[in-house]
Amino acid sequence: MKRNLPQLSELRPLMKFERPSLDFRANRLARAADVWDLRRIARRRTPKPAFDYVDGGAGREVTLERNRQAFAEVEFLPSILGGHASVDLSTTIAGARSALPVGIAPTGFTRFMHAAGEEAGVGAAAATGIPYTLSTMGTRSIEEVAAFQPGARRWFQLYLWNDHDASLELVNRAAAAGYDTLMVTVDTAVAGQRLRDVRNGMTIPPQLNLRTVLDASYRPEWWFNFLTTDSLKFASLSGTSHSLPELINSMFDPTISLDDLRWLRSVWPGQLFVKGVLTAEDARKALDAGADGLVVSNHGGRQLDQVPASLHAVAAIRDAVGPDVELILDSGIMSGGDIVAALCAGADFTLIGRAYMYGLMAGGQPGVQRVLDILAEQMRVATTLLGVSGISELGRGHLNLHGRGSGSPVTARP
Ligand code: GLV
Repeated sequence: MKRNLPQLSELRPLMKFERPSLDFRANRLARAADVWDLRRIARRRTPKPAFDYVDGGAGREVTLERNRQAFAEVEFLPSILGGHASVDLSTTIAGARSALPVGIAPTGFTRFMHAAGEEAGVGAAAATGIPYTLSTMGTRSIEEVAAFQPGARRWFQLYLWNDHDASLELVNRAAAAGYDTLMVTVDTAVAGQRLRDVRNGMTIPPQLNLRTVLDASYRPEWWFNFLTTDSLKFASLSGTSHSLPELINSMFDPTISLDDLRWLRSVWPGQLFVKGVLTAEDARKALDAGADGLVVSNHGGRQLDQVPASLHAVAAIRDAVGPDVELILDSGIMSGGDIVAALCAGADFTLIGRAYMYGLMAGGQPGVQRVLDILAEQMRVATTLLGVSGISELGRGHLNLHGRGSGSPVTARP
């Protein structure tokens, strides 16, 4: 083979030595190509009990995996030669616009994962133009989150307590603070059995013992933030307990019923969504009780294990309720392609819980922003390659829900 040694002048255009940036966080986040990469960074930087609280699910984590497997098995069916130069990813949900068909799901104990907690979530949501949902189990109050981002579209997630008057007070405070949608979670009559938390001996607040002090030696930034910011507490929960399941089981109303839903409908002035619906029958009941829309969710596989994947549930519920009821899907979303698949299957909108928490743990608000940017770009590419000009054109014709055309096993994780 004949070779020529290159001249320096030929190499010069290829040389792109940039001055190294000392913004290590920005560098770290910029190198993350997908949400799985951010998960890897999150795992390195967050104490195990906090990371596992987010990353884990209930029981043997069958549903946690099943959610992702369902997305992995989807086969997209693109239509070619009808190209569009740009795709409109914006949509209307619960009576107002969102820049993307995804919002931030309610997550509990958020400042345990990263000191920036709710402020980071609502900040990134506001910057992106999507809704942010504050959890009853949040570590910032209804009013604090409103004050962080007065212009953000805010939703409030409610767990009904044994003390209905205290729940009513939260509902009234959310309405007064400008939250436009109430999301009532109905799949948490008791706490799911999160075995990782049991094995990690997770307590509230986290305890300083030999194990945690050793952990601190190689996760100094987390510990510095944890020890130098406001003490960690649930902002809307008055009960005290040693563990999360004890707290949930002592405070939440396990007898929550359709009558309670009708009552909440009568006291809440805004949009009412019922979260945690997995069957067509329950969907009809919740709608009859006055829900404006439903969140088809298995709580990210964190409550009853071995229930169906939310992707399959949303398809069945869409078939049952027809085209006009607003359906939001959560549970299992790790990519923009997953969001596109959910919309094709019948969802109008989606929520991300774990996916945004990985970004939060990887790098605070810029980490959450990185997740949203990655998802938006993945959605843009997927919809363009499917041949649509906007997400409203997506439908069942764009996918085989139960793919596996090749017959080879599908793995949900890269
Ligand atoms: C709380 O809602 C949780 O899923 O941990």
